Amino acid sequence: MADGNSDKRFATRSVHAGTKHIEGAVNTPIFQSSTYYLTDERYAGWAAGAQHTLIYSRLSSVNSDACVEKICAMEGAEDGELFASGMAAISTVMMGLLSRGDHVVASPDVYGGTYGLMTEELPRFGIEVSMADMRDAESYEAAIQPNTKMLYIETLSNPVLKVCDIEAMAAIARKHDLLLIVDNTFTSPWGCQPIKMGCDLVIHSTTKYLGGHSDIVGGAVVGRKDLIAHLFPKKVHFGGAPDPHACYLLERGMRTLSARMPIHCANAADIANRLQDHPMIEKVIHTSLTNHPDYETGQRIMPKGTGMLAFVVKGGDDAALKFMRGLKIIFEATSLGGVESLIECPFNSSHMFIPEEVRHAAGVIPGFVRVSIGIEDVEDLWDDISSALNAL
Ligand SMILES: Cc1ncc(COP(=O)(O)O)c(C=O)c1O
Repeated sequence: MADGNSDKRFATRSVHAGTKHIEGAVNTPIFQSSTYYLTDERYAGWAAGAQHTLIYSRLSSVNSDACVEKICAMEGAEDGELFASGMAAISTVMMGLLSRGDHVVASPDVYGGTYGLMTEELPRFGIEVSMADMRDAESYEAAIQPNTKMLYIETLSNPVLKVCDIEAMAAIARKHDLLLIVDNTFTSPWGCQPIKMGCDLVIHSTTKYLGGHSDIVGGAVVGRKDLIAHLFPKKVHFGGAPDPHACYLLERGMRTLSARMPIHCANAADIANRLQDHPMIEKVIHTSLTNHPDYETGQRIMPKGTGMLAFVVKGGDDAALKFMRGLKIIFEATSLGGVESLIECPFNSSHMFIPEEVRHAAGVIPGFVRVSIGIEDVEDLWDDISSALNAL
């Protein structure tokens, strides 16, 4: 997947890597075709396994290849595959790499859909899952069994923003000869490149920061070439391939990733700082705050920060809901990573199906609010948030 940009710096790679200048086009044109003319070369590619050969758009497309090359260039990955959603990527990784009798160690505070997949679906196929604490690499090691195949982590957990010590997890994975899979959605490759820290595969919900404009749903898996080659036929069998038009929008979004991310992160750090002094706020969680329990780990693993912010409103979930409905600029909507700020209470949205006791144990206590801070003017964001809080 390497192209002529591999020696360039991150921002240059995010703009140029992968783009297909067909007929002199500056941007990759949209190849809205389900199937491709079968030439001798394509028959040969098909016979050799079909990966990255243009045959049929459930296998790959010009637009998905462009995106894969760009994500690989940003993450420092050997190869990758694109999917129709983040969950299609995650489920293909799990179902494609694990078999009956295998065991995976994960954490209860992973993304809600991932938690559902691991607790409701994998056991139906005889795949065992143990839950440990992503913040504590030793708890993962303690959960390893003779049949363990995979350690599954997120760079930054959703929604309580625990930072995972990826380097410590990688050391444990190496010691026990296990696969280390990370969901890097919350930081994006601009903020953290886990392959350099020893991860085997990196997953993204490209719906979020990579797409960046809340206009697509998509997913990606990049990493070791041998694992991607193994996953390619699984993707073809499971069918979760992305549409070329969504890939086009993803590529376009990724070209501005390194311009957007510093604003997301600076705005979030600024709002976090101001919120700490507001009388209606019980607790603020952001990796830039020195009182964050993982501040030191965060400085090592994802020093540029994140646009994700969480806080607890005094008065519980009723007060949090009233606060959200008082906002004028920030949208009450699930999802994250777009240019516009989005807010949600995980208890009635992204984490609704996680049992209450599991949610509370993970730190999603009454009054908990998650905000994806956008790239609006920070003064307007603060006016919006402080006015809604003052009205409580
Ligand atoms: C960290 C994380 N991973 C994966 C997903 C699933 O992605 P998608 O909604 O694109 O399927 C989400 C969705 O919110 C997420 O937050």
